[in-house]
Formats: sequence, C-alpha cells, structure tokens
Amino acid sequence: MSLCKDRVAIVTGAGRGVGRAYALMLARHGAKVLVNDLGSASDGMGADQAPAQQVADEIRAMGGEAVADTTDVADWEGAERMIRAAVDAFGRLDVLINNAGILRDRMLVNMTEDEWDTIIRVHLKGTFAPTHHAANYWRLQHKTGNPVDARVINTTSHSALFANIGQANYAAAKAGIATFSLVAARELQRYGVTVNALAPRANTRLTEGLREWTPEEEERRRPEWIAALVTWLASPESRNVSGRVFEAWGGGYTVAESWQHGPIAPASKDPAELGPRISGIVKHARSNAGIDRDVWLDP
Ligand SMILES: NC(=O)c1ccc[n+]([C@@H]2O[C@H](COP(=O)([O-])OP(=O)(O)OC[C@H]3O[C@@H](n4cnc5c(N)ncnc54)[C@H](O)[C@@H]3O)[C@@H](O)[C@H]2O)c1
Repeated sequence: MSLCKDRVAIVTGAGRGVGRAYALMLARHGAKVLVNDLGSASDGMGADQAPAQQVADEIRAMGGEAVADTTDVADWEGAERMIRAAVDAFGRLDVLINNAGILRDRMLVNMTEDEWDTIIRVHLKGTFAPTHHAANYWRLQHKTGNPVDARVINTTSHSALFANIGQANYAAAKAGIATFSLVAARELQRYGVTVNALAPRANTRLTEGLREWTPEEEERRRPEWIAALVTWLASPESRNVSGRVFEAWGGGYTVAESWQHGPIAPASKDPAELGPRISGIVKHARSNAGIDRDVWLDP
C-alpha cells in the first residue's frame, strides 16, 4: 500500500540516523523526496556532501525519485532555496520534516556561549527557517485556489519534555520546538497545513555509547518504528491530527499531554500570606513526568 503516493517531501538531516529511515520509507510509500543533509559531525562541525547523496542514490536505485541537498537548515536564505529546490524538482511540496540535529552536551555551569548558541541555532532556527518558507509557499497556493493538504513534522526530544540533566541547551531548543509546533499548528490550519512534533528514541550516532541495550531494546530502538509513524503523519490519512507531540519508538507511540493547569490558590498582594497557599498547591499538584521511566507496550 502506498500511503504517500506522489506526495513531495523534504526530510532534513536525512543522510543518517532516523532521517535516513524516514526518507527511505516515504519513498517506498510513493513520495518524491528532497534528501537534505549538511553532512556535519554530531557536534555540528564540518560538512560532507556524501550522506545526502548516498540516500538519494539509494532511493533512485529502488525505483523512487529523490534529489540530494546539502543546505544548512539554519541558514535563512538557504532554507528558502531548499524549499524552492523541492518545488523546482518535483513541481510541488506537501511535507516538511524538520529532523536535522546535533548535540553539545555539558552541565550548564561549564557550558560555553558557543555551545549554547550553536544548539539553539541548528535546532530552533533550523526548524523555524524551513517552516517559515514552506508556510509561505503553502499560503500562496491556498490563496491562488490550489488545494493544500500539507504536513510539517518537527523533532523534539525526551530530554526536553522530561528535563534531562547535562542538556540545558538541547532541551531548551527541543522544548521550544515542541511549543513552536503547537503555535504553528494553530496558525497554519487556515491554509490546510497540519503541524505535529515527535520525540524519537533510536540507536543512531547521537545515542552511541549511552548504555548497553538488550537485544529486545535494540530491536525497539530501530529507526523504522519511528519512520512508520512519520510516514503515516505525512500521508493524507493524518489530516485530522494536528498540534500534537508524540513519543515514538518500537515500544509504542504515545501522545505527550502538554502543560496542564494544576491546583489553584487565591492570589494576594502580600507575599507574607503566600507560604501556606503555595505549599498547598505544590503538595496537591501531580509531579512532573520523569525521564527515567520507559513507557512501552508488551508485545
Ligand atoms: N536518536 C535518538 O534517540 C533521538 C532522541 C531524541 C531526539 N532526536 C533527534 O532526532 C533528530 C535526528 O537525530 P539522529 O539521532 O538521527 O542523529 P544523526 O546524527 O544520525 O542524524 C542527524 C543528521 O542531521 C544532519 N545535520 C546536522 N546539522 C545540520 C544542519 N544544520 N543542516 C542540515 N543537516 C544537518 C547531520 O549531518 C546528520 O546526518 C535530531 O533532531 C535529534 O536531536 C534523536
């Protein structure tokens, strides 16, 4: 079954890891794919044309349609050129998957300005810039009367949703992406665009050496489990799902339920009155969800 027949998709950071799996599965389901990848090291240093080219070649070798692109997704004009390149190559754009990413982990007391700025740039601006230019393309299509049934799929992280230590820069960027996705979903609905985000869990070079995995965990951490959800979200079947953040891996898919209004105390202009009131609402509020508990469905 071809879930994405003739849809045109951009996958950023698709030369390796989960992005590569997305590009291959989308192509298997009939999508034409712009395979973007700067080809940098996992800390964002350097560039290499080979990863994007290899995945585009792989797609063409299996009879699909693909073009390679080595744009830095956080480059404003580059992101605009990338959107145009997909439209020039395939005549339209239906799906943007913002997946490119890097890591520069450090406890915040030791974190340098450059480690902060680089992570915020690649993830947060690297999601905003392509989304901005794609959204302008879809708005124009909508205004000129061409039907739009488009998707933006962003990448957040458990580190952000559940506050992993040692990743203040990355968690701040990925939490920003989660909320950006909810805002974008509300803004772009009027043009026929859905926006969702997902927090993947997979064994890639970014998670190398995290710890030892059992064979069962290894299997659950294969990128294909996430690629299946991404392919479905990219398809016309998902048109009624927008403004959601998913957790995705072989253990199952969950909807991460966002910030909720908790217990409420009466306000006061006198801080001396607040002790018992604030202690009371904190006592009755649910704890923040923790990163330490794996949620999975037993087979
Ligand atoms: N693997 C996991 O368990 C996991 C968990 C949470 C979030 N993520 C996120 O998933 C995404 C994919 O990660 P992965 O694990 O597949 O890593 P990966 O390193 O295997 O792949 C990321 C790709 O992005 C490319 N890239 C980096 N900066 C770029 C830029 N500025 N422009 C274009 N391409 C760029 C890299 O060259 C690389 O090929 C990232 O956003 C990552 O933060 C992964």
